[in-house]
Amino acid sequence: MTDHGYTQGRSHIWTSDTIRDIHAKAELGRYQIRGFSTFRQFPSWDDLVFLPAVMTRLPLEGYREHCETRTIIGGGKPDLVARPLELDIPIYLTSMSFGALGTNAKIALGKGFSAAGSASSTGEGGMLEEERAASTKLIYQMTPSRYGLDLEHLRKADAIEIALGQGAKPGTGGLLLGMKVSEKVAKMRTLPMGVDQRSCVRHPDFLGADDLQVKIIELREATDYQVPIFLKLAACRVEYDVKVACKTGCDAILLDGTEGATAAAPEYQLDNCGIPLIAAVRTARRAIEDLGMSGKIQLVVSGGIRNGVDVAKCLALGADAVAIGTSALIALGCNSPQYLDDYAALGTAPGACHHCHTGRCPVGITTQDPELEKRIDPEVGGERVAKFLRATMMECTGVAKSVGKRNVHNLEPEDLRATSLEASAFTGVPLAGVEWTVGPQYLGGR
Ligand SMILES: Cc1cc2nc3c(=O)[nH]c(=O)nc-3n(C[C@H](O)[C@H](O)[C@H](O)COP(=O)(O)O)c2cc1C
Ligand code: SF4
Repeated sequence: MTDHGYTQGRSHIWTSDTIRDIHAKAELGRYQIRGFSTFRQFPSWDDLVFLPAVMTRLPLEGYREHCETRTIIGGGKPDLVARPLELDIPIYLTSMSFGALGTNAKIALGKGFSAAGSASSTGEGGMLEEERAASTKLIYQMTPSRYGLDLEHLRKADAIEIALGQGAKPGTGGLLLGMKVSEKVAKMRTLPMGVDQRSCVRHPDFLGADDLQVKIIELREATDYQVPIFLKLAACRVEYDVKVACKTGCDAILLDGTEGATAAAPEYQLDNCGIPLIAAVRTARRAIEDLGMSGKIQLVVSGGIRNGVDVAKCLALGADAVAIGTSALIALGCNSPQYLDDYAALGTAPGACHHCHTGRCPVGITTQDPELEKRIDPEVGGERVAKFLRATMMECTGVAKSVGKRNVHNLEPEDLRATSLEASAFTGVPLAGVEWTVGPQYLGGR
């Protein structure tokens, strides 16, 4: 007997994912936690295209002509910063804590970014000696938790990043589940082993921009006016947040879009909080310009940056540099097709793994288990990361040359067109074909 198709339809409200989520909550009695990044689909960098030179401009020769990539962050206030962060490329490694990552992964990333003439970053939880040794340039992150905070380590850093927010989970603190709190991690953070760590979300020693201004002066004094001080913000109320950040006297702002990854976050936070990076970059640049701070404060952006063309698009929209996390982990072997039984034990497979929170990373990156960690060889991993960065910069300079630019920092919004209404609205870049911009007037819309 036929049901005449009456049972064929599917609810768009009660999807199989929603039903699975409710069943899980009913079993666990709490929300779900996971790693990786949002599962929501936003307009992405793929919704923008470059306009290479044809008749009105000259392209540069791909192999024979040079395109400059040198990047200086924190060089806008020479009287306050003796050693700005000088990089060969406009990409550095974003903050990923020791604890979230294992020691070998930290060393490999440090080696890879150093080989590419760039910098890495400690993340929450203090400075790992091995990472300092492996990284030519290392940014020291200060989070509200103050885990592992050490004045000597501050003085060994090449830049300081004060974390005020993270794109994956704005308005919440770090999260490290007990299975990753090994003896070494617990010792560095002066906390008990094997117990979940939920970092506080607000810094204990400043309440707002005025106090932060004082904190920045204190940090400059503590580090003898040597290194630049960055603020890391999640992309939320971008225009006002960036303007207030500029007033604190920092040297650079790192703006992290909602696509930014994490080792562990509540799923409701990952998928519902913050705005996509593509909607934030131009607004942030505009906010810095409004205050007359261009050149004095650098804008670094992060969250979902996958390849050299994404990097070029960020620079064109107004970023001075980008920071990457997930793409570097993938270069190191995340989600690679090996150790299939271990992926299966987590209920996943290569290409779909987002299980960093479990501490059972099949490829040995986001784990503290000594046996799993052995799967990362720091030398081999470092070479993979360096090769990835080289290829990424070939893409970035390749597209810049085709547009006719001798310096990647000369890319500009005018070099882009949007292929979707949303991307045009988010970026103020004209819609391809019609030369009409959906975005607000201050972004060039009409
Ligand atoms: C494994 C892992 C650990 C992280 N740890 C930290 C951290 O300690 N502090 C922090 O501010 N952000 C942390 N983040 C977020 C990154 O710094 C960054 O905001 C994000 O990864 C950027 O997005 P992307 O991964 O798409 O490049 C972490 C991300 C990952 C994937
Ligand atoms: S392979 Fe490891 S690093 Fe990659 S998503 Fe899975 S658990 Fe995380």
